[in-house]
Amino acid sequence: MCGIVGYIGNQNAYPILIKGLHRLEYRGYDSAGIALTSQNGNLSIYKTKGRVADLEEFCKNKDISGTIGIAHTRWATHGEPNNINAHPHYSESENIALIHNGIIENYAVLKQQLIQNGYHFQSNTDTEVLVQLIEYIKILNKTDLFHAVQLTLNEIIGAYAIAVIEKGKTDEIIVARKSSPLVLGIGDDEYFIASDASPIIEYTNKVIYLEDEEIALVSRNEKPKIVTVKNIEKTHEIIQLEMNLSQLEKGGYDHFMLKEIFEQPQTLRDCMRGRIDVSFNHVVLSGIIDHKERFLNARRIIILACGTSWHAGLVGKYLFESFCKIPVEVEYSSEFRYRNPVIYQDDVVIAISQSGETADTLAAIELARKSGAFIYGICNVVGSSIARNTHTGSYTHVGPEIGVASTKAFTAQLVVLSMMSLCLGREKRTIDEKRYRELLKELNHIPEKVETILKSNDSINDLSKIFTYAHNFIYLGRGFNYPVALEGALKLKEISYIHAEGYPAAEMKHGPIALIDMEMPVVAIATDNKMYDKVISNIQEIKARNGCVIAVVNENDTIIKSIADYVIEVPSTEDCFEPLLNIIPLQLLSYHIAVNKKRDVDMPRNLAKSVTVE
Ligand code: G6P
Repeated sequence: MCGIVGYIGNQNAYPILIKGLHRLEYRGYDSAGIALTSQNGNLSIYKTKGRVADLEEFCKNKDISGTIGIAHTRWATHGEPNNINAHPHYSESENIALIHNGIIENYAVLKQQLIQNGYHFQSNTDTEVLVQLIEYIKILNKTDLFHAVQLTLNEIIGAYAIAVIEKGKTDEIIVARKSSPLVLGIGDDEYFIASDASPIIEYTNKVIYLEDEEIALVSRNEKPKIVTVKNIEKTHEIIQLEMNLSQLEKGGYDHFMLKEIFEQPQTLRDCMRGRIDVSFNHVVLSGIIDHKERFLNARRIIILACGTSWHAGLVGKYLFESFCKIPVEVEYSSEFRYRNPVIYQDDVVIAISQSGETADTLAAIELARKSGAFIYGICNVVGSSIARNTHTGSYTHVGPEIGVASTKAFTAQLVVLSMMSLCLGREKRTIDEKRYRELLKELNHIPEKVETILKSNDSINDLSKIFTYAHNFIYLGRGFNYPVALEGALKLKEISYIHAEGYPAAEMKHGPIALIDMEMPVVAIATDNKMYDKVISNIQEIKARNGCVIAVVNENDTIIKSIADYVIEVPSTEDCFEPLLNIIPLQLLSYHIAVNKKRDVDMPRNLAKSVTVE
C-alpha cells in the first residue's frame, strides 16, 4: 500500500526516484508525486493522479534539478485518488514536504486542533495532518526538523513509513517507520530510501531495515543517526541483499504475471533446494528440527494469513491433519486479531505472507505471541516485518513477485507446507516411513510436471477466448482441490474483474446450483483422486441443468472427457500435491481472459500487492 522512495547523494535525484517509483508501483498506482530540493534550497512538489508514467509526463519542462528528493506512489485510503490528495504534501508554509505509507488513526482530532490554530488543509488525507503537525510542533518548540518529527510521532496513533524534507536543507532527509516497512540503502556517499529493496538493488546491496518507532536522520556523507521516537539510540547491522536486477525485469514476457507463472518449475526447485535430501530420505527444515519439542507438543496449529496466502493455509490444514494428526485452524488474520481468540501457550501459529508486511497478519501474530504461542513464518520477502517478528520460519525463495495477483509465491507456500507437514509427521511417527519416502520422491517430480502443464499455454489461451465475455464463473473442487477452487476464482476476479465464486463441489446443491445456466461457466477440478466419482456426480448435476463445464482432468481420463464441454489436462500426482499442479491452468486461464479483456494484468484496479494498512 503506497510505495515511498528517497535519495540523497551526488547524482540527480529525479531519475533515481522515478525508476524507484516504477519498481514500487505494484504497491499502489492511483497517483504519484515527487518533491525535490534544488541546489539553492528551493523545494518543489510535482504530483498527479494516475500512474508514474503520468507523473513523468507532468514533470516535462519542470525544474527537476536537485540531488535530494522524495517520491510516492499511492494506494488511496483517506481521500479519493486525485491530484490534491496525491503525495507529497506540503506544510502550511510550504517549507516542509512529506510522503507517507500507512494510516494515521487519530488524524481527525489532530486536524481539528490544527484548524483551530490557523492551519488550512488542501487535501482529504490523513497524511497532510502529519506534515502540518510537524511544522506546528517545530515552530512551537523552536526546534529543528528532526526533533519536530520525533515529537510529532509521539502524538500519532497508527501506522507510518514517512520521509520528510525541508526547504533550504539540501543535506538531510528524515525518515521513520511504525508498522509500515522502510529500508535504507547505503551507497558511496549516497543513501537510498524505499518501502522495499527493489528500487535500491541496482545501486547497492547494503541495506539497513528500520525497526518500528525508529527515526533516522539521513545526511549526505554521514552515517545515518537512528533513534527511537522515545530518543533511545539504536545501531543496526548492515544486511547484504542477495536479490539481483534481472529478477525485477519482465525478461521478454508481456507481463510480470505471465513471467511468474512460467518461472514456477524453477521457483519450486529453488524452494526445495537444500531442504530435501538428494536420496529422498528426509526433509531438512531447520525451523522444525531446531524447535522440534514445540511442534511435537503442539496442542493445535493455527494458520494465519490473508488472500492467496490464506488459500495456501487451507491446503496446509489438510496436509497437517493428514500427516501429523494435529488439529489445525485456518484463520483470516483480520478476523482473528479482533475476535478475542482462545490461544494456548502450546499452540503453534504459522503465519503465511508473500510480502511479509500484511498489516493484519502482523497484528494477528503479535496477539498470538503475547499469549505465549510459538510463531513460525512462511514469507517470501527476506528481512520483511513478519519474517523478523516470528520465532523461526522458512522463506519460500521465489525471488521478487511483482504481479499483483500472486502465482509463484502461492505454489512455493504449498511446497513449504508440504515439506513442513512431512517433516513433522515423520518426527511424530504419524506417517509411515515408506509412504513418507514415496511422497518426498513425488514432491521432487512436481517441477517437471508443472513444465508439462505450461506447454498447454496456447490451448488454454484458445479456450480463454470462448469465455472472455462471461459475467460469472463458478469454480468447484473437493478435498485438497477445494482451496484450489477458491484460488482459481480469486485469480479470475482480481485481474479480469469477472465475478467468480469458489465452492466445495458438494455444497453447490445447497445454493449456487440455482445460478447454473448456459451463461455460467463452471470450472470443475476433477483430477483422479479419492473424490473422483463424487466430483463426476457433481458435474452430472451441472450438465443436467444445461451448465457449461470446463474440467481440469488427468491425462488418461476418459469419463469426464465424455461429459464436460471442455477439458484441460494435467499430469497425475498424489492427492496432497494436486493443488500444486491444478492451480497452474487456472492461473493461465485467468491471465488470458484478463489479457483478452485488455485489463491491466500486473496492476489491476483497486488492488495492491502489499497491504500495509488494515
Ligand atoms: C493482497 C495481494 C494478494 C495477497 C494478499 C496477502 O491482497 O493482492 O495477492 O494474497 O494481499 O498478501 P501477503 O503478502 O500477506 O501474502
